[in-house]
Amino acid sequence: MNGTSGARALRVGVMGAGSIGCYVGGRLAAAGQADVTLVGRDRVVEELGRHGLTISDRTDRRTVPARDLTLSTDVASLADADVVLVCVKSGQTADVGAALDPVLRPDAVVLSLQNGVHNVDRLHAALGTRQVLGAVVDFNVVSRPAGAVHCGLPGPLTVARSGTTTGAAVVAALAAAGLEVTTTADIAAVQWAKLLVNLNNAISALSDVPTVELMTREGYRRVVAGLLAEGVAVLRAAGIRPGRVRRVPARLMLRVLRLPDPLARRLLAARLPTDAQARSSMWEDLVRGRPTEVDDLNGEIVRLAERTGTPAPLNRRIVDLVHAAEAAGPGSPGMAPGALWSALH
Ligand SMILES: NC(=O)c1ccc[n+]([C@@H]2O[C@H](COP(=O)([O-])OP(=O)(O)OC[C@H]3O[C@@H](n4cnc5c(N)ncnc54)[C@H](OP(=O)(O)O)[C@@H]3O)[C@@H](O)[C@H]2O)c1
Repeated sequence: MNGTSGARALRVGVMGAGSIGCYVGGRLAAAGQADVTLVGRDRVVEELGRHGLTISDRTDRRTVPARDLTLSTDVASLADADVVLVCVKSGQTADVGAALDPVLRPDAVVLSLQNGVHNVDRLHAALGTRQVLGAVVDFNVVSRPAGAVHCGLPGPLTVARSGTTTGAAVVAALAAAGLEVTTTADIAAVQWAKLLVNLNNAISALSDVPTVELMTREGYRRVVAGLLAEGVAVLRAAGIRPGRVRRVPARLMLRVLRLPDPLARRLLAARLPTDAQARSSMWEDLVRGRPTEVDDLNGEIVRLAERTGTPAPLNRRIVDLVHAAEAAGPGSPGMAPGALWSALH
């Protein structure tokens, strides 16, 4: 940490040292913007202790030595954190909130970097009066061997505006670490827009194809467009106005997805990962035999559809297909576009 003008370093804890936690925590540590504590599983802590933490994107690759990080498997190591970045999967949020509650300082600020629209409420329920802020990560990170994480699709990080000194300090630190940070007074709108983007994660998981291939093959795009069209209709019926999807209104994105191959490829080119092998974290979950976040993503559309009496058969079927794949054990079923289309209809 640089400790400019003798001021105490911002102490940032990462709860859930996986792809996002290691990438954001690693960027802060590498830029000397915070004293960073990473709380993760035994395997991850051991690996980081041995190799350090390597963060990379398309232009840069840096290793933060283990001595410049505090590595722990114990949430108690976050007791003096000013800010905690919650970076676990949505299904683990309630447990992590309960574990953090007896540990964190009353004035600690908690920032959820998770997908889905209910994690802030889950953390609020567990953490009482502490400030919990939502944030939307619109870039993609995958874990690689030997303590490395790679960002294959750059993009912004949008943080709920906080009004507290610590909230402002963490936003400033993230920006100084080179992340493209913006703040918003309406994080819910951004979370809903991101949820619409995330509806395609399940297709990535079930098809076993990288995101670039998914978006540049008409057969897969047709399925993605079907899920998105249902999502847009359900949100409208529920009176929810999502923000822009990757800076594009959802309806325009829908039109682009439905275009024939050459035109769609041209229009989507700038929004695709630079890493031809980049895939969704739901794919990673299936391959590693871990529970996915499908209930918080496509499942959210299904629940809203039920509440508003709007049809969402494709998202409902996708949830079932992902659960069947989870139950089948580690691996993706590798469904081709035709197989997916018939399974959905
Ligand atoms: N990866 C991306 O590109 C991306 C982009 C945008 C948003 N997000 C969102 O960010 C969140 C995190 O995603 P991710 O891809 O970073 O997930 P991830 O790689 O699975 O990282 C989460 C890590 O936290 C660990 N963990 C869970 N509970 C823990 C506990 N009590 N103590 C210690 N470690 C614990 C998990 O271990 P186990 O697996 O053993 O439980 C896992 O290693 C998700 O909501 C995701 O949707 C991800």
